[in-house]
Amino acid sequence: MKIAVLCSGRGSNLLALLEAHAQGKIPGAEFVAVIADSRDAGALNIGREYGLQASVVPRAAFHANREGFERRLLEVLAPHEIELVVLAGFQRVLGATFLDAYPGRVVNIHPALLPAFPGHMVWADEVQYGVKLAGATVHFVDAGVDSGPIIIQGAVPVLPGDGPDELAKRILAVEHRIFPQAVAWLVSGKVTLAGRVAALKGFAPTPEQISQTFVWPPLED
Ligand code: GAR
Repeated sequence: MKIAVLCSGRGSNLLALLEAHAQGKIPGAEFVAVIADSRDAGALNIGREYGLQASVVPRAAFHANREGFERRLLEVLAPHEIELVVLAGFQRVLGATFLDAYPGRVVNIHPALLPAFPGHMVWADEVQYGVKLAGATVHFVDAGVDSGPIIIQGAVPVLPGDGPDELAKRILAVEHRIFPQAVAWLVSGKVTLAGRVAALKGFAPTPEQISQTFVWPPLED
């Protein structure tokens, strides 16, 4: 399955995907292109190192013209015959112009347990709200903001004294684990969709797996 990855920044999630792929953990995936919305994005060099075609579609060049930006993204992607578009730290909301070209084939990672804390730069909001569990979500992208069907979530504790940076770092570690897993499931055709509920074909967790709940702060016996 031919995959393009859209990024805006340093690209640690892109690297996690490419490393997992290099280790044989995403069978059937072919990462062919990385597109960044800024030429400063570190993700571009990571993509090049792994043999992806790296392109820049500078959002700044399109000002208030989101449709023009999305049309340009589609032009850059078109020759690659992409089957899955992965948003890995892509800080732009995509609209119908883009999404209609890849129906049900765009996924995103978000650093919160959706539907809590959608949007940008959410770590400070999570800390200030006082949530005890934070985490990350991989989801299909729909026309809303971080509102599409959820594929996988990973939780981490919020510790006393955490600032946004400490929390972001702890969440990032779980992002790097769940994103390659989600992409592997998508590539192998394991993800089904019924309405807005995504599920895994043949999913049959053991009683032991089901009992692995994450309670925080920990229970006192
Ligand atoms: C990640 O934490 C990702 O979840 C977040 O940006 C960071 C990108 O890091 N994405 C969003 O906030 C999407 N709205 P990376 O460039 O190192 O992968």
